[in-house]
Parts: sequence; C-alpha cells; structure tokens
Amino acid sequence: MEETEKSRKVREMFGAIAGRYDFLNHFLSANIDRRWREACVLEASKRIGIRSPRILDVGCGTADLSIAFSRLGPVIGCDFCHPMLKIGAEKLAKEAISRTICLLEADALQLPFPDASFDIVVSAFVLRNLADIDQGIREMRRVLRSGGVLGILDFGMPRIPLIGSLYRWYFQSVLPRLGRLISGVEGPYGYLPASVRSFPPIEELKKRVENAGFTKVDPMLLTGGIAVLVMGK
Ligand SMILES: C[S@@+](CC[C@H](N)C(=O)[O-])C[C@H]1O[C@@H](n2cnc3c(N)ncnc32)[C@H](O)[C@@H]1O
Repeated sequence: MEETEKSRKVREMFGAIAGRYDFLNHFLSANIDRRWREACVLEASKRIGIRSPRILDVGCGTADLSIAFSRLGPVIGCDFCHPMLKIGAEKLAKEAISRTICLLEADALQLPFPDASFDIVVSAFVLRNLADIDQGIREMRRVLRSGGVLGILDFGMPRIPLIGSLYRWYFQSVLPRLGRLISGVEGPYGYLPASVRSFPPIEELKKRVENAGFTKVDPMLLTGGIAVLVMGK
C-alpha cells in the first residue's frame, strides 16, 4: 500500500514535535491524559481474563500507553514516526522497563504481524490521524485473536452546555496557540481541533468498530466527554 499524503504529513508533524510531545501532552491536559490511559488499562484488564496477555499498542508514540499496559503483560508498541519512538525508547531505558516492552517502526494501516497475534490491542489518540479509520480498525481486528480485547482512546467533545462551550474555547483557541508557542512549530496542536471535529461521534465510532467484526462494544465518556474510550471483544 502506498503512503498517502495525509500519512506523510501526520508523520512529519509528529516528528517535528517529538521532543516536546510528552511535556505538552501532560501540561495542556493538566495531567488528565495519564488518568485516561489508566482507565484504558483498567477496562482491558477487567475484560481479558488471562494472565500475562500479549499486548499491542498501535501508534504508541513516546510509549506512555505501552508503559501503562506493561504491568499486565509483554507489550509491542508500534508507530510510523521514528523520532517519537526514539523518545519512547529513551524513556524505557531510563525507567529500566525495556525488558517487557518492544518498540517497532510500523504503519497502523498495514501491521507487520500475522493474524491473531495478540490478546489485547489498544490505541490512544491515533485513529483520527489515520488516512483510513476503518482500515485501521480492521487491522487491529485482524491481529487480535478471537475473544481478545480492543481498546480505543481518543478525544471527544463534551456535550454538557456550559462546560462544552468553555472546553471548545480552550480546545479551539487556547490550546493550538499554547502548543505552537511551546513546541515552536505549527504542528499537531494547530491541526488537533479540526481533526477532533472530523472524528466520528462516539455512537458512530461504536458502529464502525462493530462493522469491523467486534462484539460487546462498550463506548464510555471520560471527564464529561473530553475523551472517549471504546472497548470491544
Ligand atoms: C497523538 S500521538 C499519540 C501517541 C500515544 N499513543 C499517546 O497516547 O501519547 C499519535 C501517534 O500516532 C502515530 N500515527 C499516526 N498515524 C499512524 C500510522 N498510520 N501508523 C503508525 N503510527 C501512526 C503518530 O506518529 C503519533 O506518534
């Protein structure tokens, strides 16, 4: 499969901010992003029912979700942006957890694994960046064994009236400016609001996950809908 223009742009964009990605993530979300990843680990562990599951983190970036999942079992984190993986690898070396996590350069739309290779497949803040969301979900389904657990985490838009308006103002006006100022590039923080607006609402995402062959699809709103978590089997 040839790389699309969107994939190339996304990869370059994350490459340009890789060094500041972790700081920006935690700073701009007031550290709430850590709790969302923890929620994903907790929901997956409730559903998996086996010891030491084989885990794949698709679009692992700097490996925060891989690290969070490594307490459940061995993790492969894959991403197509080399500078993001490099930061992730440095973090693993520093925290001395590289024994249980392996990072790999790979495209989410064409995963280099045989069918049914994993017990858990997770992905955080990646899907809306893909040139083809459904192909991304199908690939996750393909590499997951039957009865395995899927977890997709991404941004949503809170629907509570006052909080929703305040959040939209922060998300569309403040966050891109702060992101640009701190990272020094017109990177993902400029493109973030538009990418979240064009991302399917949670009900539609649930249907698209079901269409890819998942059952027991359970959509959850986190922090009043600022983030969404969709679990499936
Ligand atoms: C917003 S970051 C999320 C990183 C990480 N999952 C986290 O929770 O912080 C999105 C990541 O998805 C990766 N990505 C986007 N499209 C991809 C693709 N087609 N294949 C592999 N990685 C991709 C980017 O390189 C980037 O590292």
